[in-house]
Formats: sequence, C-alpha cells, structure tokens
Amino acid sequence: MDILKAQDFLERNLLVAIPTETVYGLASNAFNPIAVSKIFEAKERPTFDPLIVHTYDLKKVYYFVTEIHPSLLKLAETFWPGPLTLLLPKKEVIPNLVTSGLERVGVRIPNHPLTLNLLSQLSFPLAAPSANPFGYISPTTAVHVQKQLGEKIPYILDGGNCKVGLESTIVGEENGEIIIYRLGGLSIDDITLVVGKVSIQLNQSSNPKAPGQLKSHYAPKKPVYIGNNNELHKMHMGKKIGALVFGNSLLNEGVLVKNLSPSQNYQEAAVNLFSFLRELDEADVDVIIAELLPEIGLGLAINDRLRRSAAL
Ligand code: TXA
Ligand code: MG
Repeated sequence: MDILKAQDFLERNLLVAIPTETVYGLASNAFNPIAVSKIFEAKERPTFDPLIVHTYDLKKVYYFVTEIHPSLLKLAETFWPGPLTLLLPKKEVIPNLVTSGLERVGVRIPNHPLTLNLLSQLSFPLAAPSANPFGYISPTTAVHVQKQLGEKIPYILDGGNCKVGLESTIVGEENGEIIIYRLGGLSIDDITLVVGKVSIQLNQSSNPKAPGQLKSHYAPKKPVYIGNNNELHKMHMGKKIGALVFGNSLLNEGVLVKNLSPSQNYQEAAVNLFSFLRELDEADVDVIIAELLPEIGLGLAINDRLRRSAAL
C-alpha cells in the first residue's frame, strides 16, 4: 500500500522520501530533469552538487552507464546492496543536472527491503540525495525528514530507523587507481580486502569533486567543538553544554551527555551519531562538544562527519 502510493507519486515526477540503510533519501525519477530539479529546489541545494542514482539490480546499471571497471565490479558484486556508491561513466539517458555536468554518475543499490521493492516496481532509477536541507545533518528516521522537509515533500515512505546511519562510501577509478572520495558506512578495510590498495581523495576545495565534502557540512545550528571533552568542558564553563561521548566519560552534572556507544561499538556509534547531534541541536544547550573516536574502521567516517559538523 505504502509502496503503491510512493510509486504513484514518483511516476507523476513528484518527490518521495525513501528509507535506505544509510540515511533517508529525497527521491525522484532520475531520467527526468524536471523531476530532478524538484530535489534541488526542496533541499535548497546548489546545482553544482551532483546526485546519487539508485537502482535494485546490477544488470540495470548497464542501462545508464557505459562500463564498470573490473575492480569496481568486484566491489559492486561484494557489497551491493549496501552502503557503497560507485562513480561510473554515464550514458546520455542520465540528465546532466543529475551529475552537475560531470561525466561520471554516482550509482548505488541500497539495502532496504521497502526501497528495493519500490525500485523494482519502477521503470526508472531514483536520483536521491540525503533528505535534509543542504548542509544540515542527514536524516536517519522518517520523523527527521518530516520535521524539516515535510511541507515540501508529497510523501514520506516510512521504513523505520536507518541501520547503518552514515552515508555511503563513494569509490571510483582514475587511471587504474581505485580512489575513495567520501568515507562512509562501508569501511576502507572492507574495500581493500576486495581490491587491494586504494588511495583516498577527500576533496575540500570550493569546487570539490564530491561536494558533500565541502568543509562545513552535516552541521547543526549550534556551534560544535571537537577536542578533549574535559578540557572543552572547562573552556565553556558557564554555558549550557551538550556532549557526545564514546564509552566511559568523566563529564559530570550540568552537562547533557549523549553516549554514542557505552560499549565502544563503532556500528552502534554510527547509528546514533546523526540522531544524537539533532537531539543536542534541539535541546536546551548553547554549545555541543565532542571527542573524536579512535581512527580505525568506521571511526574514520564518524570523525570525518564530526569534523565537518564543527567546521565554520
Ligand atoms: O548513503 C548515501 O549515499 C545517501 C543515500 C540516500 O543513498 N545519499 C547521499 O547523497 O548521501 P548526498 O547527495 O547527500 O551526497 C552525495 C554526494 C554528493 O554530495 C557528491 O559529493 C557525491 O555524492 N557525488 C554524487 N554524484 C557524484 C558524481 N557524479 N561525481 C562526484 N561526486 C558525486
Ligand atoms: Mg547529503
């Protein structure tokens, strides 16, 4: 029933928010430039920031890309459906608006039963960025989407809480080299196990290849400070403080503490990160302080998001 409704809106080139295992997406018909333009409008997203195209079957990808490099194909076969986006040379059927004029299109098969079912009912793939206003924290529940974009989206397909909680890892190939452009829900270690050595190119310039990589992104409205929580606590004495911690914490009374994972589990921390940032942003606090996680596994992607949420 819900899927039929979503399908109906999408076939009329309207917007639907869709659940994925990473974050909620704001979707429309990827083959139709007018449908795609509605995404940029609703998110107030600059058109230099390209969109990821979602489908449900590797065979369908060849309808809109010219080739898949053998190493990238291995990654697709190993990790799709999952938190992996591949940059692949596009065919003309993908409007330039989707890729911001770039020659490669970001492609992903998301791992969510409702959305996979929906995609298999449609005769086109779905372009979908995260379903948040440009620059703000990505949504990991239908309520997050409703609160910020509810009035601009005809329909939200509620698929529960996102099970990964971080956006997909973006990977491509240049001159035979496998490159990671955005850290995300699939760890570098998992990728190197399949394709060997990779290089990492997290662009931060004003004209980045992956603009989700703009220095300030995923940012709450409250100022975020990264460092040693006890030192930050002292530094902001007298203000109302919200703190993100990972495992044990010495922070005491007067601080609103959100523990990403009391048992220091990285997956749990990833799942909680964006909702806790939102909760602190909405709570009665003046500043948010946070400590970086150890730089291993998903800790790298979590720290990337924390740093960007703190950047001015
Ligand atoms: O997990 C995800 O990737 C989620 C879900 C909804 O699939 N989507 C997501 O989309 O995070 P978005 O638009 O918030 O971030 C996508 C980023 C863009 O900011 C851009 O950096 C990069 O992906 N990207 C997309 N297409 C690209 C392209 N053709 N070339 C380079 N970078 C691209
Ligand atoms: Mg985004």
